[in-house]
Amino acid sequence: MVAPTPHRDRSRTWQPAPEQLLYQSYSVEEDRIRTNVHYEQPPEFFYTLTGGEWNVYSCNLWMTGARNDTESQEAKLDLMARIMDLQPGQRLLDVGCGWAGPLTYFSKRYGVRGVGLTLSPTQKRCADERIARYGADVQVIEKHWKDYQPTEPFDAIFTDEVIVHFHDLEEFFRQAWDWLRPGGVFLNKEVHFTNSRHGATMQRGDVLIHEIYGLTGNYRTIAEELSFLDRVGFQLKRIVQIPLENYLKTARRWEENLLAGRKELEALVGPEYFHRFRAYLQLTRKILRSGKITLDAIASTKMDLPGFGAAPAQQPVYEGLT
Ligand SMILES: C[S@@+](CC[C@H](N)C(=O)[O-])C[C@H]1O[C@@H](n2cnc3c(N)ncnc32)[C@H](O)[C@@H]1O
Repeated sequence: MVAPTPHRDRSRTWQPAPEQLLYQSYSVEEDRIRTNVHYEQPPEFFYTLTGGEWNVYSCNLWMTGARNDTESQEAKLDLMARIMDLQPGQRLLDVGCGWAGPLTYFSKRYGVRGVGLTLSPTQKRCADERIARYGADVQVIEKHWKDYQPTEPFDAIFTDEVIVHFHDLEEFFRQAWDWLRPGGVFLNKEVHFTNSRHGATMQRGDVLIHEIYGLTGNYRTIAEELSFLDRVGFQLKRIVQIPLENYLKTARRWEENLLAGRKELEALVGPEYFHRFRAYLQLTRKILRSGKITLDAIASTKMDLPGFGAAPAQQPVYEGLT
C-alpha cells in the first residue's frame, strides 16, 4: 500500500503518476503508515543526521552566530519561544514533536509543561528516554492529531515543519483553536510556496522528496494558510520570515553529518536508502535556491470573544529577519 511508485515516462515530457501528486487525502490509518515510512527509520540515523543535543529535524538558525548544531537548534527554539512568549508554568502542545528534543528544551529552559504528539512508536520510545534523562515535565503521546483529545486547555500550540503532512489543514486549525485557552498562541513554522501553481508542476526530484515522506506532502502558500486561520477565528499576531540561508546551512550540516557517519549509516539503513537520502538533501538545497519557497513562522491568537476581545498585536504583523 505504501511502497514508493516507480517513476514512469508517459511521454517525451515526464509527468508524475496521479498517486505521486501532492495533496493526497488518506484515512488516519493510512496517514500513519505512510508518514511512518520515514519516521520509523532507525533513530540512530536521524540522531547522526541532525546532530546536536536536541536532534531538531527542521530548519535551525545560523544567522545569529551559532557555531555548531546545538547552538543553531537552541537559537531557533529560543526565537520560537520568544514569539510564543513562553512563561514558566504554561502548558505547551508540540504537534509533531519528533524525538521530543524541542519540547524537552522548552521545558528545561522556559519552565513550561507540555504534551507532544507523534505518529511514530520509535520516536515516542526515544522521546520517553530523553524526557526521563532530563527529568522534564512533559509527556509524549503516540497519536494522530485527529484522534487526540486534551483534558485541559493549552497556553500555546506549536508546529515546526509538520503541517506539510496534514491534508485537512483547516480542520487541524479548528482543533488547535478548540484546544487553546482564550488568548492562547498558535505558532506554525513551515515552508510555503511563493505561488500555488508550484504545487501543480512537479519534477522528478519533487517526486523523490515526496516519496521520502510516504507521499504525504501538502505544501501551501501563506495566503492559503492565513485564510484558513482567519476562517477558524484566529487573530493574526506576527509573521517572521526566516531567511533561507539558514535552511541551506542546516541542510549542508545534515549532509556533512551524514557523510561523517557514512559507514555506520549505510550498514544501518542500507546503501540504497543512504544514497536516496543524500540525493534528497541535495534536491532540497536546489529548491531552496529556486525562489519557489519561503520559510515563515506564523503566530496567531485565539480571540477572546466574537467581539475581537484579544489584545491587539504589539509587534509589526510582518517582520523579515535580517
Ligand atoms: C519533520 S518532523 C518535525 C519534528 C519536530 N517538529 C522538529 O522540528 O524537530 C515531523 C513530525 O510530525 C509528526 N507527524 C506527522 N503527521 C502527524 C500527525 N498526523 N499527527 C501527529 N504527528 C504527526 C511526525 O511523526 C514527526 O514527529
